[in-house]
Amino acid sequence: MVIFGATGDLTHRKLLPALYNLAHEGQLPSSFVIVGFARRPKSNDDFRAELLQGAQEFSRFSPINPAVWDALARGIYYHQSEFGDGAGFDKLGQLLQQIDRDHGTAGNRLFYLATSPADFSQIIVQLGAHRLVQKGGSQRIIVEKPFGRSLETADELNRVLEGVFAEKQIFRIDHYLGKETVQNILALRFANEIFEPLWNQKYVDHVQITVAESIGVEGRGGYYDTSGALRDMVQNHMMQLLSLVAMEPPIALGGEGVRDEKVKVLRSIRPIAPADVPHCALRAQYGRGSIAGKQVAAYREEPKVAPDSRTETFVALKLFLDSWRWAGAPFYLRTGKHLPKQVAEIAIQFKAPPSVLFAAEQCAPLQPNVLVLRIQPDEGIAIRMNAKVPGTTVNIQPVKMDFRYGGSFGARSPDAYERLLHDAIVGDSTLFTRRDEVEASWKIIDAVYEGWQTALPPVSYESGSWGPPEADQFIEADARQWRRP
Ligand code: BG6
Repeated sequence: MVIFGATGDLTHRKLLPALYNLAHEGQLPSSFVIVGFARRPKSNDDFRAELLQGAQEFSRFSPINPAVWDALARGIYYHQSEFGDGAGFDKLGQLLQQIDRDHGTAGNRLFYLATSPADFSQIIVQLGAHRLVQKGGSQRIIVEKPFGRSLETADELNRVLEGVFAEKQIFRIDHYLGKETVQNILALRFANEIFEPLWNQKYVDHVQITVAESIGVEGRGGYYDTSGALRDMVQNHMMQLLSLVAMEPPIALGGEGVRDEKVKVLRSIRPIAPADVPHCALRAQYGRGSIAGKQVAAYREEPKVAPDSRTETFVALKLFLDSWRWAGAPFYLRTGKHLPKQVAEIAIQFKAPPSVLFAAEQCAPLQPNVLVLRIQPDEGIAIRMNAKVPGTTVNIQPVKMDFRYGGSFGARSPDAYERLLHDAIVGDSTLFTRRDEVEASWKIIDAVYEGWQTALPPVSYESGSWGPPEADQFIEADARQWRRP
């Protein structure tokens, strides 16, 4: 596996700890070799020492097992080169051939683009030009997000990729698909008989998908200011969550079945016309405030963020799916940084039951049922239902039925990158995003940005709040309310 951008944060915090975890679980091929490719000069030993530190800090198996680490470290190399330097790629080719001889890696290669997206294309072109890839051969490439910043740029990147790799060799990563709780969406829906008959607009009033973060841009201001919440979170992670919740049952879990159904969902999303953007897409930016008792800066005060930036750090969307199953039941999506806590959940809000039976005795209307899929951090599933409070009067109150992963299954779930790296190594692309999915999703996002161009700039919200008051009005206009997760 050749990691481009191997001295970056992603390698340190996610990729290497995930590879170590796989090694610890005996899930890596015995002849597995990692080559870090980056610009900074560094020796193999320095690189190994850095990676060991990453594994110690971020692996789920602590302390590090010396025997597992030593075996992995014997196959770790560092290769210094600029990304545009042809001679550097020639030398990479020589190094890989040497590794084939020494470790028996037999020409199998997995390239990982963990660099800034500005470098993606030149690296792909170099790989092709220096014959490090055979189209249709045993080399694969994992492309980190962001995959373009619009439909046009995503198309361009796809064209560059397809000039060198066949589609089956391309693995577009969306780490949300590697999360256990996200994979469990399909298990919940299709391994049970009780939910699916209700999973449609006849019984569901609406769906709310929330991905809240209490962190800010964390030193990534340079990237984030050219991106914004819609590109950074909605185009990929949230659209994937929506697809899995809304899709029809696939004919099989493997192969193309799941992705075929997901793309149909994305294509069924009604594009937001520019005139509708103000009612269907709200954007906001964090101002100063306090999170967990700590004063925090406004977005425009973050390093590498323009002082007059109009980039959104919060977005709320209302989407309609023009499909038989979902016609008329909106999907509300909400994500933001500097919100009160980190939480990701999908809430299926059912219609209210007819209240005729209890209306005479009960002054408050009955609460509708809600099924909540907690993606993180308190992974689980909860159902809100109504029950009679014990006593001589008829008093109906909502109660919660709760399943927690930790309680039921004990062991800590593997990290998303662990599952995804494993799948890329064995060549299973089910949990990766296909070209048509990326395109369908960008179409929706582009339409929103187009509408925003002529709209008012983002409103401000206090850091540590659940977004601006406009976010509440946004959903209250439909006589609904955001959940407070
Ligand atoms: C990344 C975004 O893709 O996902 C970040 O670029 C965001 O801005 C992160 O913080 C959230 O991922 P997770 O797994 O922590 O929910």
